[in-house]
Formats: sequence, C-alpha cells, structure tokens
Amino acid sequence: MSSGNGDQPVPIAEPKGKLGVLLPGMGAVATTFIAGVEAVRRGLAAPIGSLTQMGTIRLGKRSDKRVPAIREFVPLASLDDLVFGGWDIRKDDCYQVALNGGVLESQLLQQVRPFLEGISPLPAVFDQHYVRRLVGTHVKKGKTKWESSQMVLEDIERFRTQTGAARLVMVWCGSTEIFLQPQEVHQTLENFECGLRENHPAIAPSMIYAYAALKAGVPYANGAPNLTVDIPALTELARQNSVPICGKDFKTGQTLMKTIIAPGLKARMLGLAGWYSTNILGNRDGEVLDDPESFRTKEESKLSVLEHILQPDLYPQLYKGFCHVVRINYYPPRGDNKEGWDNIDIFGWLGYPMQIKIDFLCRDSILAAPIVLDLVLFLDLAQRAGMRGIQEWLSFYFKSPMHAPAVYPEHDLFIQLMKLKNTLRYLRGEDLITHLGLEYYD
Ligand SMILES: NC(=O)c1ccc[n+]([C@@H]2O[C@H](COP(=O)([O-])OP(=O)(O)OC[C@H]3O[C@@H](n4cnc5c(N)ncnc54)[C@H](O)[C@@H]3O)[C@@H](O)[C@H]2O)c1
Repeated sequence: MSSGNGDQPVPIAEPKGKLGVLLPGMGAVATTFIAGVEAVRRGLAAPIGSLTQMGTIRLGKRSDKRVPAIREFVPLASLDDLVFGGWDIRKDDCYQVALNGGVLESQLLQQVRPFLEGISPLPAVFDQHYVRRLVGTHVKKGKTKWESSQMVLEDIERFRTQTGAARLVMVWCGSTEIFLQPQEVHQTLENFECGLRENHPAIAPSMIYAYAALKAGVPYANGAPNLTVDIPALTELARQNSVPICGKDFKTGQTLMKTIIAPGLKARMLGLAGWYSTNILGNRDGEVLDDPESFRTKEESKLSVLEHILQPDLYPQLYKGFCHVVRINYYPPRGDNKEGWDNIDIFGWLGYPMQIKIDFLCRDSILAAPIVLDLVLFLDLAQRAGMRGIQEWLSFYFKSPMHAPAVYPEHDLFIQLMKLKNTLRYLRGEDLITHLGLEYYD
C-alpha cells in the first residue's frame, strides 16, 4: 500500500445481493450474534460494541469537521442482507442453543424465536481427538480428511444456491482445539493436500473448513486460538484464490483489558513486575478449556500479548523478566457471565511498587458477538476491494493477530484502531491521519 495521501480511491464493487454468513460452531457466540442481528434489524435492540454499526471516522483536518459514520464512508453490506448457516456437532436449532446457553433473556429470544428456529446446523467435520471434552452426535462420515473437505465444499455451494447469496464469509466460532505446532504438512499447499488424503494427524477439523472456504473463494476469520488458517499452506491458498483471511482468537474480556491498560503503562514508562490473571466461567467454552490440551492453545494466545506490547528487549529496566500468569477455571454456576480478576504489580519513580486490581464482570458472548459482525462486514468489504491474504488491519479484533513473517504482531488496541481506520481512509483515497497537527499552530 502507498501512503494514501492524495491517492485515488481503491475501486470497490458495490455490495449487491445477499451476504451469506457461514459459522462452523453454532454455540453461544454464534447464536448470540445471529439473534442480535435479527433483533437489531427489527429495531428491538442496538448494535452496541460494533464499530461498523456505531463507529465514526474523522477525515481531513480536525478543523474540517468531517466525521462520517464508518458504514456511510465505506460500502458495507446492510444487516438486512445477511443470511446465516453453519455446522455443529449437535443438531439443535439456533433457538434451542440460545435458550440453553442462557446468554440472552427469554423476552428478547421469544421475539426472534421463529427466525432462530429456522436455522439449524449441518453435520460437522469433527474428531474428538481435537476437542476432548465434546462428544459429536451430528457429524460427517468422510473416510478421509480429503473427503470431509469435499463435503464441506458441497455444503457451501448448496447454501449459496438455496439462499441465493451473492457472496459468502466464514467465521470459525467452534470450540478451541488442542494445541498444534506448525509442521511440514502445513508448509505448502501440496503437502497439505497430500496430508488431507493421508489423514495426517496435524490437520484439525477447523483447517478442513478453512481449506474448503478458501477453495470456494470464501473469506475466513478464525475466532479461536487454533492454528487453523495461520499456516503457510492456507495463506498461500488465500493469496492464490484472492481471498482475505484473518485471526486468531476474538479479543474480548480480560485480554481486551490487558491491551487497553498495558499500552498506557508503557506510554508513561511505568515498570511491570508481574501480571496475574485468573477467570471463572461456566459455559461450554469453559468446559472445553478445562481440558489441559485446549487450555494450552488458549494460554499461548493470551500470554503473548504483554511481551509484544511492552517490548522488554527495548526496555529491560522496566519489563525484563516480568511474571505473567493466566488461569481459566471452569465454574458452572457462572454460565456465560465470566469474572476475570487481574492483579498487576507495577513500579514507578525510583522503583517504588504499586498495585492495580481489576475485577471485570463481563459477558463473554455479548462481547464477542459484535466482533463477529464487524469481521463479516469488513472481510466482505476487503474482498470487494481486491484485498487478499492476511488482513493485518483487522488485528483490532484478535488476541493473536495473524501477521506477515517479517514483522511482529501488533497488540496495542490503539495502534490497531489507527491501522484499521487508516486502511479505510486509504481505500477511499483520503489522507491518512498522522496526529502531527503542527499546521494548526503555523
Ligand atoms: N466468547 C468469547 O468471549 C470468546 C473470546 C475469544 C474466543 N472465543 C472462542 O470462540 C469459540 C466459540 O465460543 P462459544 O462461547 O460460542 O463456545 P461454545 O462451546 O458455546 O460453542 C462452540 C460450538 O462449536 C461446536 N463445535 C466444536 N467442534 C466443532 C466442529 N469441528 N465443527 C462444528 N462445530 C463444532 C460445539 O459443539 C459448540 O456448539 C471458542 O473456541 C472460544 O474459545 C470466544
């Protein structure tokens, strides 16, 4: 990308027709998202937390007073054009899942009940080896991983025909899979396709959905910390087929707080001795994360954030060797209403110690649902603007943002937001905002 200053706008195809949203994993997050979109369409509630629906963007100089809504500035699909489908290892329709999940109140759910009852998951690609706490009763019976990928491809094409969707986007909202490290089979598309045929154990179900999506030209976002699309074989396929991708792991709750507070401490050159984070949550996600192998995937994702923001190598006196601990405890009475505690040991002038305590009583799926919506709309925009491969400007939404091999991931929420908004300005040929501002004082 060039600087964008004075550049021509990037040609972007208009969002004509329906946009199909495909969700592997129709649990708490997916159903809270779908029910929420329908509630907003019917004027029953507001899309709080969604940048695409609520956000504005400043253009030009502060004195110009040009601050359009983001959804008027770039051509996003309208909520009215969204249609939904997906897969799960259980047969329950979206109403049943939302009711059991207990995230949304019954009064709201009843009003969107017929709509939710009309959306049922297709049989999943699933293997308990990758999510040990779950038992699948509604699963495909492909003999090889290759066969399973072809079945998902058929599902995608059937959904396209049945709904008449002009474009599709896929967002992984499935459970967190066991920890996998990149291996030979992930390095090239050829190895990966060979691995699919040979049932290679390092190819997890989430990768099979991702492969099928990219083959079908469908943008893919990964809401969980699994490797999934973050392997050279699939980033290569995304580039080959001109498909935008992003991930990993929705940035909600405790990590959102971390990436808000840590940049502030660093900005003021305050030191960090330790950061202890612990959570209790009682939804199915919590149950899955109770398995050490799934938790390990999550832990890796949560731990990397502080190192990248604080840069201990650049600031050894302030951040070298700080202690960072993250715990998740499955505690059923809490359901989706997670409680996250943080104890932060910092030090200031002359090394004097201080403490910060955070007690965040959050709602996991309420924080995640608007992220799914924004990712759907922005990935669709990216594809219509001819963007392909890793979309680093969507790092804003993730705990472990995907990034080019040559750079480290950007975790600071405020830099991420600036990157996102500057990308939108670039697309429209507007000046990028540098916050220099000297011109106001000439
Ligand atoms: N809610 C948040 O704040 C948040 C934040 C970051 C990441 N996440 C991640 O998002 C994902 C969804 O969270 P949730 O709270 O909705 O969990 P959930 O357990 O309610 O839903 C996950 C669903 O995925 C299904 N599933 C598992 N494997 C599958 C497969 N191979 N194919 C199809 N379906 C499959 C499960 O049956 C379940 O219905 C989890 O991986 C979670 O870690 C959530």
